[in-house]
Amino acid sequence: MIPAMIPVNEPLIGEKEIDYVMECLKTGWISSSGRFIEEFEEKWASYCGMRHGIAVSNGTAALQVALGTLNLKPGDEVIMPTFTIISCALAVIYNGAKPVLVDSEPRTWTMDVNKIEEKITKRTKAIMPVHIYGHPCEMQPIWDLAGKYNLKIIEDAAEAHGAEYRIPPPLMAGAKASPERSRRGEGEWRKCGALGDLSCFSFYANKIITTGEGGMVLTDNEEYAERARSLRNLCFKRERRFFHTELGNNFRLTNLQAAIGLAQIERIDELVIKKRWIGESYTERLKDIPGLTLPVEEPWARNVYWMYGVIVDESTGLDAETFARKLREEGVETRPFFLGMHEQPVFHEMGLFKGECHLVAERIAKQGFYLPSGLTLKETEIDQVCDAVRKIYKDI
Ligand SMILES: Cc1ncc(COP(=O)(O)O)c(C=O)c1O
Repeated sequence: MIPAMIPVNEPLIGEKEIDYVMECLKTGWISSSGRFIEEFEEKWASYCGMRHGIAVSNGTAALQVALGTLNLKPGDEVIMPTFTIISCALAVIYNGAKPVLVDSEPRTWTMDVNKIEEKITKRTKAIMPVHIYGHPCEMQPIWDLAGKYNLKIIEDAAEAHGAEYRIPPPLMAGAKASPERSRRGEGEWRKCGALGDLSCFSFYANKIITTGEGGMVLTDNEEYAERARSLRNLCFKRERRFFHTELGNNFRLTNLQAAIGLAQIERIDELVIKKRWIGESYTERLKDIPGLTLPVEEPWARNVYWMYGVIVDESTGLDAETFARKLREEGVETRPFFLGMHEQPVFHEMGLFKGECHLVAERIAKQGFYLPSGLTLKETEIDQVCDAVRKIYKDI
């Protein structure tokens, strides 16, 4: 008999979410105006430590709007990791620019910051770090490059609600920037989403905070915020409605969705603690299996383990797909890792990334997958998942 499946994710919806949604229904504020939109924007921006929040219909739209504020021109380039969701590359392309790819760093699976500078050209306008599976990118080297070459930073924090990066302490006059000092434990913590010129979030049902579908752009810059609001709302002109000088989109979030989001933010600390507990519980149980690479938490990072990813070593003779099939037979649902942008046929057909080779991303795409990581996960289920993983390793 096939055991009941442990799902990879299930959203955690409470009474407050239901109450707030009922308020929208009862008062008729069901579209994109209403008290929850503004409160949701304010509370999320303030939780992350940014001044402005612009709620949009999903994380892909957030990326598109954030890049839209930069007024990119054809031929402009945006540096981003190959190992991410297609939304990042789409947002660059839909803004008329060209994505330029960087391989992953093997420990955190985020963009390898040592490989960015070689990709910078005269056309480079921005860098897009993506905090993968809840672990922040190392930001100081990115800030240094952005300063040196006058580039904007668009942060993709879709998977990193509540994650934090430790900023190296203020430098002494004339001293060189030192990520080392941050690694040693000095410096101030700052939330992901407050580490760039603009940042983007997704609130899809598998995210730590969810609105069903939803997203947000955060920024400290008043002009970017104003432009982002216009881009999400068909670029209506303030002075005269239905008069347009440029093209926008309808990327509005509804008050109904924001109502769910607000209820979720009100217990964000509890949700982040639960995610970290899931991550630490898996690590504790799986850490002694040779040939299984687990997520890390760098000393300068606070990982929220949005999804608990693992990498199966090639020496097992198994790849992620085979391993996942075996786990399914044991009642454990998994999801494969991203497939790098340079391996996507749709981009090859467009003449992009042909012949590119990013070895780390290629390996983790083939050997990596994530285990059930939802907020409803129980300790007994974590035990079951880990027993199933061990059983497969024993049978190899
Ligand atoms: C890193 C990253 N960026 C962007 C997105 C896009 O978000 P959405 O699915 O809300 O469009 C996702 C979605 O999962 C994501 O993981």
